[in-house]
Amino acid sequence: MEEKLTDILNRAQNELKTISSKEQLVEFKVKFLGKQGELTSVLRGMRDVAPEDRPKIGAMINELREKIENAYAEKEEYFNKLELEKELAKGAIDITEPGKNHERGALHPTTKMFNKMMDICVAMGFKVVEGPEIELDYYNFEGLNIPKNHPSRDMQDTFFITENILLRSQTSSVQVRSMETLKPPFKIISPGRVYRNDSDATHSPVFHQLEALVVDKNVSMADLKAMLTDIMKKIFGEETTIRFRPSFFPFTEPSVEVDVSCPTCNGKGCKVCKGTGFLELLGAGIVNPKVLEMSGINSKEYRGFAFGFGVDRFAMVYDGITDLRNMFKNDIRFLKQIK
Ligand code: DAH
Repeated sequence: MEEKLTDILNRAQNELKTISSKEQLVEFKVKFLGKQGELTSVLRGMRDVAPEDRPKIGAMINELREKIENAYAEKEEYFNKLELEKELAKGAIDITEPGKNHERGALHPTTKMFNKMMDICVAMGFKVVEGPEIELDYYNFEGLNIPKNHPSRDMQDTFFITENILLRSQTSSVQVRSMETLKPPFKIISPGRVYRNDSDATHSPVFHQLEALVVDKNVSMADLKAMLTDIMKKIFGEETTIRFRPSFFPFTEPSVEVDVSCPTCNGKGCKVCKGTGFLELLGAGIVNPKVLEMSGINSKEYRGFAFGFGVDRFAMVYDGITDLRNMFKNDIRFLKQIK
């Protein structure tokens, strides 16, 4: 028996030496260690060994199995390593290959203008309030003193979902929502997206506004003008001046349109301002007492003023962008040109 075991070990060791592939290694495992393998048949032969010799022979067989298994594992590791090296060599870094370019994005000019405006207003004590883009007719029109079928609705034709639900045409809708829920005095701004049934070289069916509303005792047109002057100077620079022109909005009385001195030529007159030195940039006014009352604010005690910026238009003026369509293409080459 001992001779037989030594013979198996010798043959196993010799065979391992000649093995040159993983397939051969598998065959080796089957032959020596497998269920029908040589070691198993030796174990079966234990039946014929005298009982007193069995422990000794058993120990020898175990030792043999261990030796063969170790030798096998060593060889297997050798082949695995070889395979890994081959794989690595295949996938080695090709230094002639052009690098992968990770494009960095850029903030949209409208986003940057929103941030600028909000920073300025928040520093002045305004609270930011947002409202839904899908809005009830009441908040977009009726609560702002624009009854159904009123001709002033023509100024803001929008997209209706049902008779009473629409895509808001102005962030002034948030004024009504705020007046209903906040206790005066308060100062709110409301940034957001608005929609109109309008599309040409200077109009987009979707654009952005920032609405501001101040409700307090004794506020006047002078407060409105002082605050707007301050904000415009902070956006466009200390040189900036503003002027009021009488206008009409159903929710403000009196209403004004606000012109800002052209930041490109500092009011001297250039191509951007068509030689006038001013740009028409926003609407504003003293909140119509009727609007305050409809939302449950006592107009004998409180007054309000409000203004609404077209944020895309501000961004275009600020960044010297002339074509509105560029604002909605999201072409990274365009966005990157904007400082
Ligand atoms: N909502 C107006 C528009 O979209 C702009 C506006 C005018 C807002 C006067 C105001 C305001 O708050 O007082 O044309």
